[in-house]
Amino acid sequence: MKKFLAMLMGLMLVFSLTACNSPEPAPAPEGEEGAETSDEMPMIGVTIYRFDDNFMSFVRRAIETKASGNAELILNDSQNNQATQNEQVDLMISRGVNALAINLVDPQAAASIISKAQAANLPVIFFNKEPNFADLNSYDQAWYVGTTSSESGIMQGQLAADAWKANPEWDKNGDGKIQYVLLKGEPGHPDAEARTQYVIEELISQGIEVEELELQTGMWDSIKGKELMDAWLAKHGDNIEFVIANNDAMALGAIQSLRAEGYFTGDKYMPVVGVDAIPDALEQIKEGIMLGTVLNDAKNQGAATFDLALNAAKGLDPLTDTDWTLDENKAVRVPYVPITLDNIEVAEEAYN
Ligand code: GAL
Ligand code: CA
Repeated sequence: MKKFLAMLMGLMLVFSLTACNSPEPAPAPEGEEGAETSDEMPMIGVTIYRFDDNFMSFVRRAIETKASGNAELILNDSQNNQATQNEQVDLMISRGVNALAINLVDPQAAASIISKAQAANLPVIFFNKEPNFADLNSYDQAWYVGTTSSESGIMQGQLAADAWKANPEWDKNGDGKIQYVLLKGEPGHPDAEARTQYVIEELISQGIEVEELELQTGMWDSIKGKELMDAWLAKHGDNIEFVIANNDAMALGAIQSLRAEGYFTGDKYMPVVGVDAIPDALEQIKEGIMLGTVLNDAKNQGAATFDLALNAAKGLDPLTDTDWTLDENKAVRVPYVPITLDNIEVAEEAYN
């Protein structure tokens, strides 16, 4: 019942968002609420895999900021459902959008989105969830905006290794190994897979021995992160020496759980690292609680997504009048930056 209500509310949200735009391809009537309408402005159809993803809400905000006065946006919450997203794409195409900007629910669904775009001769910019290159390469009007996923894992590993070496007392059982627990993002998501692999490879390549106590998916979600950490603390207690999270939301959930167990008071400490550098995580770093994170630059990823979509919507080369560059995989890759207390202003600047 709860689920049904949530679904209904989600549908209503999509409806009310799209309802403030013209229902048909015909030019929107003047004086509509919410949407910035002009006959000259191109219309860009955007989907976000789910609106309640913390990091994606910052990417969404960056797209909206860039769009203001430059394009009419149709924004859709795909509610973590690929079938819903496919319908949203069909609807946007029928309403006459000039370009699509798609944050996939399922990275494997790129091919079906591409075939819809291709049939309508529309450009499509995928962002945040990287499609297979074979899919992207099957259509000359398809591009990707994101990051080099492995980079975030390597940086997180470096950050963890440096701190571990500087704090020998963190090796609570004195066996020279890090007994760690790892909160993984969504399985199959290129960021989650790469971060999970590379953070550990980096620790090992720094000469640190590791022992995995737990590795489970918290689906990028703070509440799930807390629940997993609760269970792991109940099971392993003080044997846990390090908490590695694929993103900050899950790291923050783990911190909540740790606080409830008395960590971060007196000399009871647990190093926790995340990825994204969302403002809530930066607060925890400033308070000396969270060890560090890796900046996932929402502002620039949103900006690049919009720039490419706007150019393509106008029939221009997607890089026209921008500083972005495409790699050999038709992707703009925004760099990550490791963040600790020492350079926290870099992250604050990126999220202001
Ligand atoms: C990642 C980000 C996660 C989550 C995910 C959604 O890049 O680090 O926090 O937002 O994208 O696809
Ligand atoms: Ca140890």
